[in-house]
Amino acid sequence: MSCHVLILGGTAEARALAAALSARPGVRVTTSLAGRVARPGALDGEVRVGGFGGAEGLAGWLRREGVTALVDATHPFAESITANAARAAAATGVPAVVLRRPGWRPGPGDLWHPVPSLDAAAGLLPRLGRRVFLTTGRLGLASFAHLTELHFVARSVDPPEPPMPPDTHVLLARGPFTVPGETALLREHRIDVLVTKDSGGAATAAKLTAARDLGLPVVVVQRPPLPDGVTAVPDVASALERLGLG
Ligand SMILES: NC(=O)c1ccc[n+]([C@@H]2O[C@H](COP(=O)([O-])OP(=O)(O)OC[C@H]3O[C@@H](n4cnc5c(N)ncnc54)[C@H](OP(=O)(O)O)[C@@H]3O)[C@@H](O)[C@H]2O)c1
Repeated sequence: MSCHVLILGGTAEARALAAALSARPGVRVTTSLAGRVARPGALDGEVRVGGFGGAEGLAGWLRREGVTALVDATHPFAESITANAARAAAATGVPAVVLRRPGWRPGPGDLWHPVPSLDAAAGLLPRLGRRVFLTTGRLGLASFAHLTELHFVARSVDPPEPPMPPDTHVLLARGPFTVPGETALLREHRIDVLVTKDSGGAATAAKLTAARDLGLPVVVVQRPPLPDGVTAVPDVASALERLGLG
């Protein structure tokens, strides 16, 4: 039986799932990217780029392309597309799986400050230090733009977009990162406090270990909740199992 799986991508897990599905005979796999990153890495299977036009647009795409299963493997903070995917799956009856890597958990020695939003992170910062390492993505700097007294080192894959704080040093880099590399970076820039989203995963976790080793506080922006009634699987193997392809 042939099937067509649409993967909503933009993550390492989506890439790994595309590779696993492409190796199966009779499975057509398409990965959808938002088009935010200038040079996305290579992907197995077919690739389409750009928004669908909301939940209705996605539902139309599922019908037109004969999609038999939808996997939402987007980033844990990509809230709109996840809501749209749930609505489009409900509207079309296409079976859907949400693949979300587990969030990070603090361990002994971690000085974490969980906050519900980037704005809340910005509100906390002046009490925690003056030199900030910001790893919340290139679109999130606006929340910190009013913090004119603080020095920011902002790391992202592509250049961040204004508005951003006036005293910002931009580092362009793509993970994975190592603990020795992150430790050296925190030392070199004399960082007092780190801000991160709870993205989870190994590729960008080294900064957390480096911060713990150096005794630095970390402001951790918590994930938005999944849509009502939606549960996620934590890894590619579980997603394949849910699709009946395990
Ligand atoms: N947010 C993050 O921190 C983060 C980090 C790393 C990677 N990413 C990846 O970057 C992409 C965009 O993230 P975001 O936070 O801007 O998402 P978002 O706020 O949830 O999505 C905004 C709009 O972008 C379009 N879109 C998002 N993901 C798409 C996809 N995979 N394929 C086609 N269209 C997509 C949709 O447009 P329409 O309504 O027109 O369909 C969606 O309504 C996601 O695919 C995500 O996996 C996000």
